[in-house]
Amino acid sequence: MSVGKNLFIVTGASRGFGQAIAEVLSDTILKKSADDSKVILLARNYEGLKHTEAIIRKKIKLNITIDNLCCDLSKPEEVEAIIPKMLVSPVISFDNIYFFNNAGCIGDVSKSLIDYNNYPEIQNYFNTNVVSAILIISKVCNYYYNVKKYVIQISSLAAIKPLRYSGLYCCAKASMDMFMKSLNFDIPCIRTLNYAPGPMDTDMAKELLCNSGDNETKKIFENLYNDKKIIDPRDSAKKLITLLEQDKFLSGSHIDFYEI
Ligand SMILES: NC(=O)c1ccc[n+]([C@@H]2O[C@H](COP(=O)([O-])OP(=O)(O)OC[C@H]3O[C@@H](n4cnc5c(N)ncnc54)[C@H](OP(=O)(O)O)[C@@H]3O)[C@@H](O)[C@H]2O)c1
Repeated sequence: MSVGKNLFIVTGASRGFGQAIAEVLSDTILKKSADDSKVILLARNYEGLKHTEAIIRKKIKLNITIDNLCCDLSKPEEVEAIIPKMLVSPVISFDNIYFFNNAGCIGDVSKSLIDYNNYPEIQNYFNTNVVSAILIISKVCNYYYNVKKYVIQISSLAAIKPLRYSGLYCCAKASMDMFMKSLNFDIPCIRTLNYAPGPMDTDMAKELLCNSGDNETKKIFENLYNDKKIIDPRDSAKKLITLLEQDKFLSGSHIDFYEI
């Protein structure tokens, strides 16, 4: 049975959790979607996006379009230029839109918050992790005004609990959590979710393991790897997609991998 003609947008889809989301979608909602559904993948690395596209195409036999958008979210001019490519006409051509705001970077994990002493570095960080995301989500939601929308922020425990030497990351995650709550508060028909995927085996976790300026954080990640407790991104993506399929979550809420 088809679950309708759907548009899926996944940012940060060139590797890691974004790629896992795309893969799990291909086994679930995307597989059940109607012909002419569409997938938009965004990141800087084109080869990574093509690889994600190949994973989807291997699993999906439907006639779907996949657009790979290369964009550096730290650069306002690139973001402004890419947004029109997400606005497909006619406006009401889809039954549902699933927007996964997954792209993100942890920043320089060797630094404590007081080591950030220049404006452009902080500005670039928030452009990538907050400003561009807010602009893209707002434009997409505004354009597809009459379509049922699910906006999913890939959040973190760091949105609600500080992580040493990752202060900017914590600030950005907390900001986006509140953006998602506020978006649902302003426009209740937009279903929003802050999903904290747990510590997953991706480049981001390896960055903390290898380069954190905080020995305790390094030790936590070392233990997660040694004890095989680090999460396979596909296992976390499966929990997220199940939540979406069941569609019973409280809109605007923050839900953690370990709570499900
Ligand atoms: N791994 C964890 O343990 C963990 C835990 C909690 C939350 N998360 C969250 O999960 C999400 C995915 O992280 P991950 O673990 O999969 O990390 P990752 O492997 O480092 O992947 C990050 C993704 O974001 C994209 N990206 C980074 N900077 C970008 C930029 N300036 N412009 C456009 N795209 C950019 C990357 O693509 P390109 O390099 O190709 O641009 C990549 O696809 C993040 O929001 C992260 O905060 C991760």
